Amino acid sequence: MADEPPRKRRSAAWFGTADKYGFIARSWMKNQGHAARMFDGRPVVGICNSWSEFVPCNGHLRMLAEHVKRGVYEAGGFPLEFPVSSLSEPLMRPTTMLYRNLASMDVEAAIRGQPMDAVVLLVGCDKTTPAALMGAASTDLPTIVVSGGPMLSGRWRGTRLGSGTSLIKFDADLRAGRMTQDEFMAAEAANSPSAGSCMTMGTASTMASLCEALGVALPGNGATPAVDARRQVLAFESGRRAVAMVDEDLRISKILTKSAFANAVRLCAALGGSTNAVVHLLAIAGRLGVPFDLADWDRYGRDIPCLANLMPSGTYLMEDFFHAGGVPAVLKEIAGHLELDATTVAGTSLGTAIADTEIFDPAVIHPFSEPFKPNGGIAVLRGNLAPDGAVLKPSAASAHLLRHRGRACVFDGPDDLKKRIDDPALDVDAASVLVLRNCGPKGYPGMAEVGNMPIPAKLLRQSIDDIVRISDARMSGTAFGTVVLHVAPEAAAGGPLALVRDGDMIELDVEARRLHLDVAEAELARRRAALAPFVHAYARGWEKLYIEHVLQADRGADLDFLVGGSGAVPPRVSH
Ligand code: FES
Repeated sequence: MADEPPRKRRSAAWFGTADKYGFIARSWMKNQGHAARMFDGRPVVGICNSWSEFVPCNGHLRMLAEHVKRGVYEAGGFPLEFPVSSLSEPLMRPTTMLYRNLASMDVEAAIRGQPMDAVVLLVGCDKTTPAALMGAASTDLPTIVVSGGPMLSGRWRGTRLGSGTSLIKFDADLRAGRMTQDEFMAAEAANSPSAGSCMTMGTASTMASLCEALGVALPGNGATPAVDARRQVLAFESGRRAVAMVDEDLRISKILTKSAFANAVRLCAALGGSTNAVVHLLAIAGRLGVPFDLADWDRYGRDIPCLANLMPSGTYLMEDFFHAGGVPAVLKEIAGHLELDATTVAGTSLGTAIADTEIFDPAVIHPFSEPFKPNGGIAVLRGNLAPDGAVLKPSAASAHLLRHRGRACVFDGPDDLKKRIDDPALDVDAASVLVLRNCGPKGYPGMAEVGNMPIPAKLLRQSIDDIVRISDARMSGTAFGTVVLHVAPEAAAGGPLALVRDGDMIELDVEARRLHLDVAEAELARRRAALAPFVHAYARGWEKLYIEHVLQADRGADLDFLVGGSGAVPPRVSH
């Protein structure tokens, strides 16, 4: 409306007063060489940077921040970069997931407590994307995601090397005596050939891609390689859009609607995306109060085939995917199943954002009429072994195991697993079902990526490379196999996984979405009565807080007191 007074910017609460508080806010900022006109009411865009030298996948984000700044300046805004906690999949122990919610609190507090009108989230390695989005969602400013992008393809001895996926194969080959230690070390050197995140369709690539379907990132965010100059242009354009989004009042809550989440689930199916996206999207939706639950993963993804032939479900890597058309081409291919009027940070609908795209290599991105794999979505299983649900990724599973009945071989935790998995005396065969418990949100703690248990060495030597595995853990997005994950409630929360004993019969029927422990109710009741309560070993600190407040996997494993948001109202001044 032309006669409406301009909205007062949020940053004006710091920079817009002529009193001592404005003096304090401006004067100290000027020590960095900012001209007085930077404080004239122009939009302040925070650049929330998860750069860290301990997070190699995010090691180039400071360079990318410079391109965001150029875009902000060109559009008439004032960019200010700030650091937040970062999370390194390769290095952080015991598991990054233990710290995702902590990092989200850091992001939320940093945004709310500082003078910004919009925020650009610079993210990359797996948990950095959901952590930043969860924190931003709870503050609800105009928000745009710029991912670091995937590494270039690995190559070794004439074959493609995919982050994580190839390592799992090499590890099995080494343990089975099919690969020498020298070969293993040579493959290590070829595994990560450039800046960027894992170049398989692992969790980082999945989350960066889903950001396009969610509408929180510009087209190209998912697949443009980290070192391709077009990634820098994407950062530049995102900076420009962040400025415009302030005047459009295009807050994240206007973008992350139920339609956006439904579109992301459909894209995840078409990509054969990571199962980790399940807990992350549930947690993000929880921050915004969007009615999106575990059943929606099955509901929206079930009819979508897997179109992308990408590791770990397929053969190709993110660089191939980018040149084949990337995320926009996949979205266009499944457009008939999408809610195309969903709003995006581009300022247009999703339908407009993907209108001018096409598939350039149908070997990498299959057309909907000839999918790469018929069943793409995440299957949500239920039954007496998972009353609140469990998940399985059919596109990464073995077809002959999708309906299976077998004897349980139970491990009480990761240490027990490590100790016994290669024991020649382990009572296991190709029909066995490996069960791993005490690895959920409370039990591990932090719901580690240990659900894709290694195949016992004695079976590897028989050339058996997949058996059914069930746990309350997660698995790396780069992993594969017939792996049932996220069993809820977890064993440490009293879930029925705690009641399974060696030799019990377990039935998996993915088509029927059923996971059943074939033990009489009366016997299960006896076992439950004899079950010792879970006692954790943490007397203080973050781990104690986490274990006492973490929700189960079907609620996104967020902390109970973080669900929802507190908005972006500037806190009171402290001087
Ligand atoms: Fe960082 Fe895979 S280890 S993205």
